[in-house]
Amino acid sequence: MHLQNDLLIRAARGENTERTPVWIMRQAGRILKEYREVRQSAGSFIDLVKNPELVTEVTLQPVDILGVDAAIIFSDILVIPEAMGLPYEMVESKGPVFPKTIQTYEDVKALRIATENELDYVFQAIRLVKKELNGRVPLIGFAGAPWTLFCYMIEGKGSKDFSKARKMLIQDSGLSKDLLDIITDSTIFYLRAQIDAGANLVQIFDSWAGVLSGEQYETLILPYVQRICREVKGAPITVFAKGNPGVRAALGKTQCDVVGLDWTMSITESRILVGPDKTLQGNMDPAMLYGSFDEIKKATKAMLKEFGPRRHIANLGHGVYPDTDPDKVKCFIDAVKEFSS
Ligand code: CP3
Repeated sequence: MHLQNDLLIRAARGENTERTPVWIMRQAGRILKEYREVRQSAGSFIDLVKNPELVTEVTLQPVDILGVDAAIIFSDILVIPEAMGLPYEMVESKGPVFPKTIQTYEDVKALRIATENELDYVFQAIRLVKKELNGRVPLIGFAGAPWTLFCYMIEGKGSKDFSKARKMLIQDSGLSKDLLDIITDSTIFYLRAQIDAGANLVQIFDSWAGVLSGEQYETLILPYVQRICREVKGAPITVFAKGNPGVRAALGKTQCDVVGLDWTMSITESRILVGPDKTLQGNMDPAMLYGSFDEIKKATKAMLKEFGPRRHIANLGHGVYPDTDPDKVKCFIDAVKEFSS
């Protein structure tokens, strides 16, 4: 399928583009009333995620309403633990909860590597989205990084510092390695299958990278990320290690194509640390979208100037906050298009 707008893919590969591509992490979701209506009709979040027709509808909403340069498949990173045999629940206004967690070797042994069987609903949705998009913009696939999934599988819910997961990493390196290995195997299968189904780029979300030191991340966690980058082929790969500035230089040496930056990371410094061979993605503070339209435009202009016209994919430095006015999101997107042309 020929892409009419392939700015994202060309920017990811380091090719020249007429302007900077832009999309928004968590663009498909609660900021849009159109999403909330579909979510309501689906029943639960998990029912929505497992319904390819409804997933297609909410995946396309931000393309139609916000004018982003990419769609991202509507799903969640926690479908992988579920496919491995550790189901989750999504508790209203609380977030994900795992009734059962990983504590012992027996727990790890009871897990399986995720396969086509458990995840077919995702691949069906990707094929349907691609058909509906009809080449308008690329489709982004995604997965949680091994460390972030490890955090949820040990802790069983969200946490400020994931101290139980970090305790496991320190006290039982054998169990930790086995668990990270099986998550990595599952993720490699999953991302390859997303690309086979039609994903044009895949992003690895390491949302909890920041609870580890740069050195810990580099020695204990990065090898798994690197294995994914090495073994998943056929589409550019973005790695977003949120909150861990110490690992940027090492990420520059992995086989990924794009390095995601959060809003605390200096753009100029990141460019030096990551090196010239990777595209950078980010990194407007999501809270900036609580500012006035003029303030958003000014901040966007400054951000674009610091990144420069090449090897940049414009985005926020983390997911858009649920109570953000969609018109402010649109203001950011339009400003990127205008000021980078
Ligand atoms: O638009 C998109 O970006 C695609 C959809 C998407 C969701 N989750 C849908 C979702 C993506 C890319 C994710 C990734 C995800 N899920 C991450 C990594 C990105 C990040 O924000 O750091 C993480 C850590 C999760 C786990 C998760 N899922 C949490 C902690 C929560 C509850 C808190 C929250 O953000 O809402 C979810 C629920 C979730 N995932 C919702 C959506 C739209 C809200 C639930 C609802 O609509 O009822």
